[in-house]
Amino acid sequence: MNTTLVNNIKQDFLDKFNQEPLMIFSPGRINIIGEHTDYNDGFVFPAAVNKGIIAAIGKNLGNTSTVCASDFNDTIEFSIDSIAPMDKESWGNYVLGVIAEIQKSGKTIENFNMVFGGDIPSGSGMSSSAALENSVVFGLNELFNLGLTKTEMIFISQKAEHNYVGVNCGIMDQYASMFGIKNHALLLDCRSIEAKPFEINFKNHELMLINTNVKHSLSDSAYNDRRSVCESISKMLNIKALRDATEIDLQKVKDKVTPVNYQKALFVIQENKRAENASVAMQNGDLETLGKLIYGSHDGLQHQYKVSCVELDFLVERAKENKDILGARMMGGGFGGCTINLIAKDAVEGFKTSVAKAYKNEFDKDCSIYTVELSDGTHLIK
Ligand code: GLA
Repeated sequence: MNTTLVNNIKQDFLDKFNQEPLMIFSPGRINIIGEHTDYNDGFVFPAAVNKGIIAAIGKNLGNTSTVCASDFNDTIEFSIDSIAPMDKESWGNYVLGVIAEIQKSGKTIENFNMVFGGDIPSGSGMSSSAALENSVVFGLNELFNLGLTKTEMIFISQKAEHNYVGVNCGIMDQYASMFGIKNHALLLDCRSIEAKPFEINFKNHELMLINTNVKHSLSDSAYNDRRSVCESISKMLNIKALRDATEIDLQKVKDKVTPVNYQKALFVIQENKRAENASVAMQNGDLETLGKLIYGSHDGLQHQYKVSCVELDFLVERAKENKDILGARMMGGGFGGCTINLIAKDAVEGFKTSVAKAYKNEFDKDCSIYTVELSDGTHLIK
């Protein structure tokens, strides 16, 4: 967590509202493997990271609430008694959506003030949106003693995204951000919402992120389209979700779906298996196998599920040429954002330099490279 940012956000709050706030850190996440499986009731393998949203929050005894997004230098004011969605692209919907869902759950909240900022680049596929939603629900829960459990809170965050932002996301991002454990990744079963923590120590390897700096926009109907394809094929198969299907089951409906949609469903079934196999490989300390699964995941996301983009593919191709990189793939919803790379520690510096140069040559823009630490989930900063 970025302590300078914590101090700045707190100072900003004190200057604006002249009261002592509660301070919250809500992390972003990475995902080792298991992409687009969460809304198919399948397995994902995310971890919370040390980058995320810092929020300062306190009561407002008047008739209005004020929320300031320090990164956008933008403020919204509203009354807690009349919550309604804003324009489609507004960040305010992440906040207002959470409030609306808390109210729908029958809990009462009063007006409040909030200042927030973060160090996850938005659109990087590291879930800045889930981090923001979780910071709001967590902060309001503390401030007004709502008695919500963490599980209730993540479903509120998810519904805010469905109903106010318009993205029918799964539960991975909100779960990872809320329940993260320092130095661990979580093999989450998105049906039972139970996770098995895995301590991450890749010895002489580590995870490195490369941001294409191409901003993805999930609300672009592509994400929701993928989800409805999966749901309609599940219906045809008479199952609750694709998690319940095998490749053989899928063949039964082959002549009823387009080849393109068939490949999408096949990807989900295979990706779910890859996530499970990855957990076995990790248990055995078998990084070679883990790496191959990660490359396999990208291949499917690129060719079958079709959610990659040329910049992501370029970065994965450069990784494949380097024997010190065991696996690389696009991470998150797709169409931009980061790749995640499993790389030998002593190869990091050399690869950083060469890939940055190659990327600049090819696209005439810069990529950004980060190493991240795995962090605890949403919590109060003492
Ligand atoms: C986004 C969504 C998640 C998940 C991923 C793809 O991050 O918010 O629920 O579906 O895409 O794995």
